[in-house]
Amino acid sequence: MKSALSRRRFLGAGAAAAAAAVPAASNLEAIEPAPPAKPVSISSANGLAATNRAVKLMNAKEDTLEAVISGVNIVEADPKDMSVGYGGLPNEDGVVELDSCCMHGPSCNAGSVASIRDIKLPSRVAQLVLKRTDHVMLVGDGARRFALAHGMKAENLLTDAARRQWLKWKENLSDKDDWLSPKEAETGHEARPTGTITCLGLNPAGELSGVTTTSGLAYKIPGRIGDSPIIGAGLYVDNDVGACGATGRGEAVIISCGSRIVVENMRHGMDPAAAVKDGLKRIVKQTVDPRLLDKKGRPDFEVVLYALRKDGRHAAGSIYKGRQYAVNEGGGSKLLDCVHLFDR
Ligand code: GLY
Repeated sequence: MKSALSRRRFLGAGAAAAAAAVPAASNLEAIEPAPPAKPVSISSANGLAATNRAVKLMNAKEDTLEAVISGVNIVEADPKDMSVGYGGLPNEDGVVELDSCCMHGPSCNAGSVASIRDIKLPSRVAQLVLKRTDHVMLVGDGARRFALAHGMKAENLLTDAARRQWLKWKENLSDKDDWLSPKEAETGHEARPTGTITCLGLNPAGELSGVTTTSGLAYKIPGRIGDSPIIGAGLYVDNDVGACGATGRGEAVIISCGSRIVVENMRHGMDPAAAVKDGLKRIVKQTVDPRLLDKKGRPDFEVVLYALRKDGRHAAGSIYKGRQYAVNEGGGSKLLDCVHLFDR
């Protein structure tokens, strides 16, 4: 009953808004009213195993939030992925600080942790914030102490490989950090590793959830928080419409409220590919600072937006050609090409 009402709200509000604000996207009739017969999970390209596990769990009738979090736990615990969890590249002091948030569509609830140290699976802490507090976001030492209170173990997350890579950066320090000299603030911007995993899940009951987790920008200023723990930026889920997650330059995704924009685009009738492309165009439009632009006047960074609509249709989009995303629609997980704005 709840989802039938929700569905009407989705189409009703969407039709009006599409007619008024997004005339090019008048394909509301094309939206399948029913959710897919099988669970669907999509993720950033580092999420083949995550989407596989998420779908397996949803097939076993596990809740969508538990399914996607369990999926990204594989990557958080993997020291070989240096952009997420254990083994993630540290901040400029050589300390790993992690960000994560999760959102559960059916209960319209969210949890988040930012700049948390010593805890291997930050998405599990975000899930505990959602389930066991009256809050949405905990940061820094408060988040760490909250995790310890719930029995999580404090561990050194800096692997030898990440430490060696950080040391190399430190030994070559000059204009490659985040402290902009007066000159650099006007001219230069050195791209450094970013990486993240976002994973979205939808079950045949039409229930959606999502999670995003990261060690953030490598060698960041301690305390820097990216988009990944921010609801509406690195993740947004609306059980009536769809879900979106983001990877790439967090600052751009925060400023554009990237994930929320994409979900609103879908609410107003855009299909997932059009919705992510429009979100990326807004990021490009908002990138006006010369130090963030390449010679063609385009962003010198990448953002990828991943969208899963309530009817099971999905897409991901990147500013530049060549990115992929992971999908599992009930069989094995596979990589698909992202739509993009610019060839280069
Ligand atoms: N998107 C991850 C970050 O910027 O921290």
